[in-house]
Formats: sequence, C-alpha cells, structure tokens
Amino acid sequence: MSQRTSSLPTIVSGKNALKTFQTWLRKNAPEQTVILCDSNTLQHCWPVLLQHVPQLSSAALIETDPGESSKSLEIAAYIWQTLTEQAATRKTLLINLGGGMITDLGGFCAALYKRGIPFVHIPTSLLAMVDAGVGGKTAIDFMAVKNLIGTFSNPVSTIIDPVFLKTLPAREWLCGEAEVYKIAAVANASLWRTLTKKGFSPELIEKAVRTKQRIVKKDPYEKNSRQCLNFGHTIGHALESAKQGTLLHGEAIAIGMYIETELAAQLKLITREWCVEMQQALMWRFDTVLQPIDGEALRHFLVHDKKNQKHKLVFALPAQPGHCHINVVATPTQIQKAIAAYNKCMK
Ligand SMILES: NC(=O)c1ccc[n+]([C@@H]2O[C@H](COP(=O)([O-])OP(=O)(O)OC[C@H]3O[C@@H](n4cnc5c(N)ncnc54)[C@H](O)[C@@H]3O)[C@@H](O)[C@H]2O)c1
Repeated sequence: MSQRTSSLPTIVSGKNALKTFQTWLRKNAPEQTVILCDSNTLQHCWPVLLQHVPQLSSAALIETDPGESSKSLEIAAYIWQTLTEQAATRKTLLINLGGGMITDLGGFCAALYKRGIPFVHIPTSLLAMVDAGVGGKTAIDFMAVKNLIGTFSNPVSTIIDPVFLKTLPAREWLCGEAEVYKIAAVANASLWRTLTKKGFSPELIEKAVRTKQRIVKKDPYEKNSRQCLNFGHTIGHALESAKQGTLLHGEAIAIGMYIETELAAQLKLITREWCVEMQQALMWRFDTVLQPIDGEALRHFLVHDKKNQKHKLVFALPAQPGHCHINVVATPTQIQKAIAAYNKCMK
C-alpha cells in the first residue's frame, strides 16, 4: 500500500467516519498495520476502534505513557525500535490513535522511519480532532522546548469520529474548545458568533475543521497566512514550557489568547470593543483556567519561540472578527505590560 493508492479524502469526519475507514481498509488492505496509542487511548479508544473496524484485531500495538512527556526523542526512538523489531516496511500503515500528543509523535515517527511510511490519524481528543490531527504538522519536544524538532508530513487521511469523545475527561474537552475559539476568532467570524451565542457543541467540529483546512490549503508550510493559527501560542507555548506539564496545552492557549488580545488592543491593532468581547467570551468559557501567571518566568521560553525573527518576538494577533495580523513584533516591555493587565483582571 502506498499513499498514492489511497482514495480516502484528506479528512473523513462525522458519525460514519469509522465506517468509511473500514471500507477503505478492506479495499486497500495494508501489508502490515501498527497502532500507536497511549495507555488511556488503549483503554478507552482501542476497544471502540476494534468494534467498528474488526479487521484491525491482528494489528500490532505500540503503547506509550500518556501526556506531553512522551513527545520526546527517547519515545520516538522506542517507536522506531519497535517498528524495526516488527519488521515494518515502507508499506506498513501506522495508525495514530489518540490525542494531539499521539498524532504529533506518531506523525513524526512515520515521516522519518525508512524516509516515510503511510500513516492515518484517528484523533480521539477534541483538540486533536479540530487542530492537531489536521494540517500535517508533526513534532516532538526537545530540551524542554515545545515542538522544537518536527516535520511537515501529511497522513493518508484523518478520520474524525465523535464516538471517541464519550470518554474524554472534561478538562481535556475544554482544551479542545480553546482551539475552536482560536480558529473562530481569527478565521471564521460566523463560527465565533455561534460560539458566543450558543456555546460549543460537537456539531461545530466540522466547521472548525473545514476552517483549518481552508487555511492550511492556502499556506501548507506556514510561510505566511497559516501563521494566524498561532494566535495565543507565543505566550501559550512559553507558558506551557515554563509550567512543565502542570498546565495543559489548551489551557495555556486560553491564557495566551487573553493576553495576546490585550497586546493587540495595546498596539491598537483591534478596537477596545472587540478586545472586550473576546476577553469576556474567554472569561465566560475558560474562567476555571484563567489564573494569574509569572511573566518573568516566561522570558527564557519566549526567546526560543520558533516564530521569532532576528531575535525579535513575533506574534499572530487578532484583527477584526475572523481576521488576523501576522508577524507582529512586540517588545519585552509591551509583552510584560499585557501580562500585567491580564494579571490585574485575574485577581
Ligand atoms: N500538529 C498540530 O498542528 C498541533 C496543533 C495543536 C496542538 N498540537 C499538539 O497536541 C498536543 C495536545 O493534544 P491533546 O490535548 O489532545 O493532548 P493528549 O494527546 O495528551 O491528550 C490529552 C489526554 O486525553 C487522553 N485522551 C485522549 N483521547 C481520549 C479519549 N477519547 N478518552 C479518554 N482519554 C483520552 C490522553 O490519553 C491524554 O491523557 C500537544 O502536544 C500540542 O503541541 C499539535
């Protein structure tokens, strides 16, 4: 089986997604299939996948510990070692069954093993369904810096079936919502209006995914317009690294969006009204997550952000609803001022 024989769309989403995948698998039976999951998705999602796609019962399983710490060179080496021991060839299909940690890690390992083997993402967290599993970015963390080593590499397909969400913990669900709010704020004003009027519901997954797909199609290698998806991520990634695992990715992004909205208002890139509307919406949905932070602790990690240019700190900041400014340079003083304003609101 090669990526070229695939007749699966880039994204298959909705209640029949697993059924579509099963039909495809029957027609394109790969020589060998390996499933990558973490211990949580092994427990909760693997039985669901087997129930819908029984022919996977003979697949080999590779299991990692759950959590960001598995997105490491050591675990990548363990996966390559296991693939080698399983005599995986270029025709082996790797199925990444899990949240964004698994899709990033599995995509990365598949992209490099024997210069690339086909892989399919089956995202099981909301965050991976709307964001991490879509768009071809893969990575591991290195020297405590998020996503420092990675590739752009596309799966054969991403199979998004909401059936997996039944067992997703509430804290993880909220993290996924943070990415939906992000996509809406900078790229889909109508989705933003729905979110603020009715709140999030799984029916909006498709809208968020299509919005991300549209952005990725225009700029697959993030040379310009795709950078809008980094809204909230300059502060968010630094915070995530500084907090060393105590803050989840989506939680860090929710805080990052609030602070970066403040920064956009201070730089006069958005009106105060839009700033207040966004911050109120974030406050309403993410009040349990928004806590004061230590701005000083972020400095080291901000310096290592991949988006930095010529040692300047670069942001993607909101413009009018559904639009974004990219390559905005902000000084450390401006950033600390926005963090101070945020901390004042959180007291
Ligand atoms: N590649 C990209 O474009 C992109 C975009 C956004 C985020 N990311 C990456 O994604 C990662 C975060 O993704 P995440 O929030 O999905 O984290 P995750 O993969 O760690 O999943 C969160 C937790 O939920 C558990 N879980 C997942 N699905 C479950 C289910 N259905 N039932 C029960 N438990 C389940 C996992 O085991 C884990 O404990 C970060 O590493 C981030 O850098 C990548």
